[in-house]
Amino acid sequence: MTILHVVGARPNFIKVAPVVRALKGKNVVRQLLVHTGQHYDINMSDIFFTQLGIPSPDINLEVGSSSHAVQTAQIMTRIESILLGKKPDRVLVYGDVNSTVAAAMVSAKLLIPVGHVEAGLRSFDRTMPEEINRLLTDQLADLLFTPSSDGDENLIREGVTPEKIHLVGNVMIDTLSHMLPEAERKWPLLCARLNIEKNRYALVTLHRPSNVDETAMLGKIMSALKDLSEKIHVIFPIHPRTRTRMATSCLNVSESCPIQMIDPVGYLDFICLQKNARLVITDSGGIQEETTFLGVPCLTVRENTERPVTVSMGTNTLVGQDMERLHLEVDRILAGRAKRGAIPPLWDGRASERIADILTAS
Ligand code: UD1
Ligand code: UDP
Repeated sequence: MTILHVVGARPNFIKVAPVVRALKGKNVVRQLLVHTGQHYDINMSDIFFTQLGIPSPDINLEVGSSSHAVQTAQIMTRIESILLGKKPDRVLVYGDVNSTVAAAMVSAKLLIPVGHVEAGLRSFDRTMPEEINRLLTDQLADLLFTPSSDGDENLIREGVTPEKIHLVGNVMIDTLSHMLPEAERKWPLLCARLNIEKNRYALVTLHRPSNVDETAMLGKIMSALKDLSEKIHVIFPIHPRTRTRMATSCLNVSESCPIQMIDPVGYLDFICLQKNARLVITDSGGIQEETTFLGVPCLTVRENTERPVTVSMGTNTLVGQDMERLHLEVDRILAGRAKRGAIPPLWDGRASERIADILTAS
């Protein structure tokens, strides 16, 4: 059986790593890895392959950055001939990025069965490009691997046949639990390099278009973060989308800014930074899950989340785009009244093994 994985953006690499490893244990499977090239900076791509031990891609489509339509179309055009040539028995796609939906669409039309890892998540917000990608990918997939039971409920409601749906747990957590001991060993170097102390800093990431694409909104958030940095050290590894928006807007984020702004860091460093943070402020999907697993308070700068279990069971709180609410929640955490959470069912480090078992069962 030949399984062809398609990945393209940072969170995809973290999701594919444990699935490739689990399938390696099944000697009936030959694996091929296609990188679409959606993300391409060393610290957004190569570093994850190295740190997570992902084999080098067999093919890189090198699509790079462009508008949604152009990027999606280029992935579709370039992957079609690869699929026709390699004739995989199944294509696996991950998460909710443009690479995910593009590969699913081409595979489905070539009648190659598609497996979607991280199926069923819904924010119910169609202004989010990822929500469009999730809805379409799940309609195209033959096997839908969900991380939590809300995913199953969403899919059933949308008319997906129950036999196609498999509640397997969270592959992000497979990688996190596998890499945590190594990540923790990064602390002595990190704290010296960044001059930080355990539990004495807030870690920030932002990259959602709704937060960073408009100068007014980005300015409002940056101003709130500046105010926060009077209460606690703020460290902010800046996503390239956000870096570009800061550069093209007239925001005053100069060297003298009290927020410690750094380039995106590798996976091990980032997990170590999350583990030792007093709190995390983010709009990332994966980071809402990782903080829940690590038991670190997370304030999500979004009005909704496709990962509701991180709020109902975990340490996540949605503050929306309300900066007063953000301040209040930070104060609550700093006063020692942080929300406590539990780890959701099946977030046990074995989701990929379940996926590999299902893929090789027939
Ligand atoms: C994409 C995903 C998003 C995911 C995020 C993870 C879609 C629609 N969006 O958003 O769901 O949460 O990845 O990080 O698929 N850039 C670089 N170097 C890179 C990559 C990007 O400089 O290696 C810059 C370019 O200016 C580019 C911008 O970032 O235009 C946005 O990149 P893109 O992949 O289009 O979207 P993301 O915001 O990264
Ligand atoms: N991450 C990282 N370095 C960083 C920021 C994030 O390794 O500087 C990791 C993080 O631990 C998580 C993943 O990237 O595993 C989340 O990706 P991102 O926020 O880009 O995408 P999303 O999950 O929102 O789609």
